[in-house]
Amino acid sequence: MTSVCVVTGAAGGMGSACARLMASSVGALLLTDRDEKGLELAAEQLGAESKASISAMVGDIAAPAFLEDLVLRASAMGEFRTLVHTAGLSPSMAGWRDILRVDLSGVARLLHAFHEHVVSGSTAICLASIAGHLGEFDSEMDAVLDEPLAEDLEERFETLFEGEPDPGATYRLAKRGVIRLCESAAVSWGERGGRVLSLSPGLIDTEMGRLELVNNPIKHRMAELTPVHTLSDGSDTILPGCAQDIASAVEFLCSDRASFISGCDIRVDGGLIGAMNRLG
Ligand SMILES: NC(=O)c1ccc[n+]([C@@H]2O[C@H](COP(=O)([O-])OP(=O)(O)OC[C@H]3O[C@@H](n4cnc5c(N)ncnc54)[C@H](O)[C@@H]3O)[C@@H](O)[C@H]2O)c1
Repeated sequence: MTSVCVVTGAAGGMGSACARLMASSVGALLLTDRDEKGLELAAEQLGAESKASISAMVGDIAAPAFLEDLVLRASAMGEFRTLVHTAGLSPSMAGWRDILRVDLSGVARLLHAFHEHVVSGSTAICLASIAGHLGEFDSEMDAVLDEPLAEDLEERFETLFEGEPDPGATYRLAKRGVIRLCESAAVSWGERGGRVLSLSPGLIDTEMGRLELVNNPIKHRMAELTPVHTLSDGSDTILPGCAQDIASAVEFLCSDRASFISGCDIRVDGGLIGAMNRLG
């Protein structure tokens, strides 16, 4: 039976890099993104260079009806092997409600929707962020994050923040929520022989990475602090990592070589969180 890999955010920096690497290990790829033109281009490029069959679906990954269609399409293509979930919104891209809907509730809905198609060896990797590792978190916040599909999630956030949450703080909590969600989803996926992981990128050279660098001066200091830089000295950005760094880690984590790794977060940040922790 054809093995199927679903990549969300496939028009984006990390999504397109992941799709390119995953194409060599599965029979069929289903790419999805809300950016129609970008997705068409990504599918066209991949189709020209890969042996895997490439399909694409445009839509909002956080919309329940679209998600239903996506899962149906994936299951019609063959056996569900991998889900690489990179679609997301950063604080400069949207207001707090959309960030919460896409970056937290949407991830919960996605993992839930694919659950019944999980077979032995199926793996999901959801992109979290180093933001989900920064600063203090308390049990009251975690209790809210641990119910990402609660009908009154927005109200609970407003109560937590005692008013209108800001997009940056919402993003940070949403990504912590993803880390916690993947830990718990690994239990139910594990019962069917599947694995779930979150992956937290550091500062990565993509459209999103560049936008946040411009809008957040603190990111310059974080880039300086990052112990490992994989972008060459001739690069036109101070961002230390590239989409290929993330794709290589995703490819490994989805492979049988990683078959005992599940229910945890993998930081792919060039050592940034370690360096920041040492600063106190
Ligand atoms: N770039 C970084 O430095 C960085 C750092 C930490 C975490 N991340 C996380 O990594 C992931 C990938 O980021 P990237 O840098 O590749 O970003 P990107 O902006 O290059 O790509 C994100 C893609 O997601 C798509 N998308 C956004 N909302 C969507 C929705 N509701 N439905 C469908 N598609 C949607 C966009 O159209 C875009 O193509 C994100 O979850 C981001 O939060 C990025």
